[in-house]
Amino acid sequence: MNFRNSMSTSMMAFVLGTMTAAQALANDAVDGTKVTFTKDVLPILQENCQDCHRTGGANLGGMVAPMAFVTYQEVRPWAKAIAKEVQARNMPPWDASPEFQGVFKNERSLTEDEIATLVAWAATGAANGNPNDAPQPLTFPESGGWQIGTPDLVVEMPEKYFVADDVEDLYITFNVELTEEQLPEDRYIKAIEFRPGSSVVHHIISDPLGGLAPGNDPTVFADGYYQELRKGTAVSFQMHYHKEPGPGTGVWDRSSAAVKFYPKGEKPEHQIRTAVLGHMDFKIPAGDSNYTDTIEESFDQDIEIISFSPHMHLRGKSAQYRAKYADGNVKSLLDVPNYDFNWQTSYEFNDPPVLPAGTKVHLTMAWDNSADNPHNPDPTKEVVFGQPTTAEMMFGFMRFAYLEEPEESEVDAAALTAFVGTYKFDVRGGTSFTISLKGGKLMADFPGNPPFPIASKAKDQFEFALASMVLNFKRNDDDDVDAVVMHNQGDVHRATKVKKE
Ligand code: HEC
Repeated sequence: MNFRNSMSTSMMAFVLGTMTAAQALANDAVDGTKVTFTKDVLPILQENCQDCHRTGGANLGGMVAPMAFVTYQEVRPWAKAIAKEVQARNMPPWDASPEFQGVFKNERSLTEDEIATLVAWAATGAANGNPNDAPQPLTFPESGGWQIGTPDLVVEMPEKYFVADDVEDLYITFNVELTEEQLPEDRYIKAIEFRPGSSVVHHIISDPLGGLAPGNDPTVFADGYYQELRKGTAVSFQMHYHKEPGPGTGVWDRSSAAVKFYPKGEKPEHQIRTAVLGHMDFKIPAGDSNYTDTIEESFDQDIEIISFSPHMHLRGKSAQYRAKYADGNVKSLLDVPNYDFNWQTSYEFNDPPVLPAGTKVHLTMAWDNSADNPHNPDPTKEVVFGQPTTAEMMFGFMRFAYLEEPEESEVDAAALTAFVGTYKFDVRGGTSFTISLKGGKLMADFPGNPPFPIASKAKDQFEFALASMVLNFKRNDDDDVDAVVMHNQGDVHRATKVKKE
């Protein structure tokens, strides 16, 4: 037997092998144990599908399942489509590679047996079966209820906003300053849930609440882990609206976020921080089917990783996070081999991996800018960083906590006000930007971009790590801050303070 023959023999065996699973189940039909909706299918749908596939089902960042899978009448017409989607592993939506089964607590996946059952049901006539076999219907929180339970605080966009008929992609930021009444004192956050106010919300980025992307579940921190919400904080809603433009497509939106706190007086031990791994200076050549970019960030204290959320746009192809230990060992932490822009999942670890001090987190992202990528709006274009979905992003969000909280080395707020003000670039016709203080953090606000936080690095020195931008503030003889010199990937720009706040 030559090589080619033995190949096809083993392929045959493979095909027969998969057929036997469905066939065996189909044969059961003959001896009276036919696969039925009530006995076999409904329990699988309840456990894996109804969260989304029901009336008023989960709206995960604008992804709402178009049909309910609750009653036999509802499911029956979809039997074949269900078989197809689960075999192709398109449903339930989950993009981590199979080797990570059991690693993430928000995993959605079916076992081989469950897939075989759904396939066999569709292949054998999709019978209802004995109504007495059916499990109790699931009960879901009242529609209008929050999945995190009754919130302690709901923050809404300040007013309704009309996303006009001609809008396709729109980025707009709303800020809501928390009043004394809403938040009289600093509190520790336990859970956050965003609610899009309309179907045209594509994603929301919020400082400091995180945000909402398609397919995200609410964020619930493990006991003992918190994010702080300070009184007087301005909560931002950086909205990305996306829809087909056209007459009559305009929609009102007022999105909101709900927050649950730890009980007053309880100080959880671990503060959750977010690192953003990525570059903003990549160029993806036209037609390139596998453009990759990598970045690594080292952590000089012991950390544990809470979650990863890779974010790219329509040309996003894959993402891998790895740990590179000081001794040279490398371990895969998350592999998303087929990134799907529609499902921007946050991968939440069951058992947070611990990285000893000195470990680097290495991120590789890949894009497909070829005509073979069905989502590619234009394979003839070189693509750079940008807000619209037709431009690209490289954001490897990572939530983590220090095993031991570092000594508070906080620069006090009074000292930070020295940097606040409006600055104007010294080049002719220079534009201006502002540095402001919100919730105890300095924010840089450049026209046309959402405000971003800058972190203290050394005396009078701040950085925006994502764009590898360093800001060195200068003082005059009276020790007042009067200018800033910005270093950004080889470019140096000086700006003079023109107005104090
Ligand atoms: C996290 C929410 C979610 C879960 C869980 C989920 N679905 Fe879906 N499903 C969707 C959304 C949203 C759509 C429509 C958009 C799309 O196709 O991606 C969809 C579409 C479908 C379709 C139609 C595909 C087509 O267009 O022909 C089928 C069939 C389907 N789901 C089956 C299932 C089954 C079976 C399960 C459980 C094993 C499941 N889904 C779990 C959200 C979900």
